[in-house]
Amino acid sequence: MSTEANTRTFTHLLVTGGAGFIGSNFVHRTLATRPEVKIHVLDALTYAANPDNLKTEEGIPLEEAYPGRFTFTKGDIVNSAVVDDVVGELAREASGGDGRTSGAAIVHCAAESHNDNSLVDPGVFARTNVEGTVNLAAAAVRHNVFLHHISTDEVFGDLALDDPQRFTTATPYRPSSPYSASKASADHFIRAFIRSKGLRATVSNCSNNYGPRQHPEKFIPRQITALIEGKKPRLYGQGLNVRDWIHVDDHNDAVWTILEKGTEGETYLIGADGERSNIQVVRDLLRIFGQQPNAFLHVTDRPGHDRRYAIDPISIRSLGWEPVYWSFDAGLRETVAWYQNNQQWWKEARVASEEKYSQTEREL
Ligand code: NAD
Ligand code: TYD
Repeated sequence: MSTEANTRTFTHLLVTGGAGFIGSNFVHRTLATRPEVKIHVLDALTYAANPDNLKTEEGIPLEEAYPGRFTFTKGDIVNSAVVDDVVGELAREASGGDGRTSGAAIVHCAAESHNDNSLVDPGVFARTNVEGTVNLAAAAVRHNVFLHHISTDEVFGDLALDDPQRFTTATPYRPSSPYSASKASADHFIRAFIRSKGLRATVSNCSNNYGPRQHPEKFIPRQITALIEGKKPRLYGQGLNVRDWIHVDDHNDAVWTILEKGTEGETYLIGADGERSNIQVVRDLLRIFGQQPNAFLHVTDRPGHDRRYAIDPISIRSLGWEPVYWSFDAGLRETVAWYQNNQQWWKEARVASEEKYSQTEREL
């Protein structure tokens, strides 16, 4: 990978999927810390979004809290006409009439993002994650807009629990679920557009995120919300599978580092040396909630369950980024406090996702 220093400046961003977990945290953090940046969000508001994600903690819509700096379109990235309109408008706004679009970028977060859902309905993963990404890449080329593609370490498949290796930018793709296969395909399309169609882009593959506003279908919020409701955490199988946890703010800061300093056409792996087995995470949560270490249930394992993900973060560290959340325990405590203080945010979504889980999941 080239270590040549680049600097780009962006004043106009289109954030796809900005009403979801990572996208909304990116939007809030950017509006709060970068007064020169205007953001437009394109989001279909699927089950995974929460309209409250586009309000401040005090419940003020972002349009009102940041006048002139935040706008929103409800729309589907699978609809190429919608995508072309929104990307075209971004390019016009950023050009200021002189035809230059160097200040405009797409931060592409929109996706179907949950492995368990992809086992039940893979088709929507192919449509949103592959077709939607192709539409965005094509519109970015047409309007000469830079694109940063947010992807996952799951494209590499899994590692054995005792493998001394971690994922690097040279690791071959070996996805194992329909979700990771669709993300792998999207990554390949982005690289093909870079090579053959003049797309100006960067790609990042990040490890598992945690933090505020993550849907309660996902592992950490599912266990936190269960514990708040006085129920037991639910571990798939024996809970020995390992994930490499990173706080969502650290991920989003790394994305900004790539936008500004990353080499065009390059891929960066984002991780914070946060490997933990699922059972360790459940025990961390039980400790935070003042409960016994074995107060959890073993439930049906996920078919094809990836054993371990682990990122070698050298590519992103070479750009000068480093995590702020070195302590997983501190980040987890903050996240627990957020779910305790925002119960109206997750109650309805939890009922719906628990209903879905109850169709397939049994206590072991
Ligand atoms: P999420 O499910 O919380 O949010 C996805 C957002 O995309 C939602 O707001 C949803 O409404 C929107 N969306 C879905 N389909 C759409 C469509 N067809 N058109 C427009 N909008 C649509 O997901 P997330 O956890 O925030 O993940 C964001 C991105 O980061 C995804 O690309 C995911 O693969 C990647 N990623 C996630 C993690 C993680 O741990 N959550 C880790 C690495 C990478
Ligand atoms: P998840 O949050 O779905 O992320 P991913 O599949 O992308 O890694 O799951 C994280 C880990 O937690 C994964 O090994 C599956 C496991 N898991 C449980 O043990 N119990 C649960 O209730 C859920 C949702 C996941």
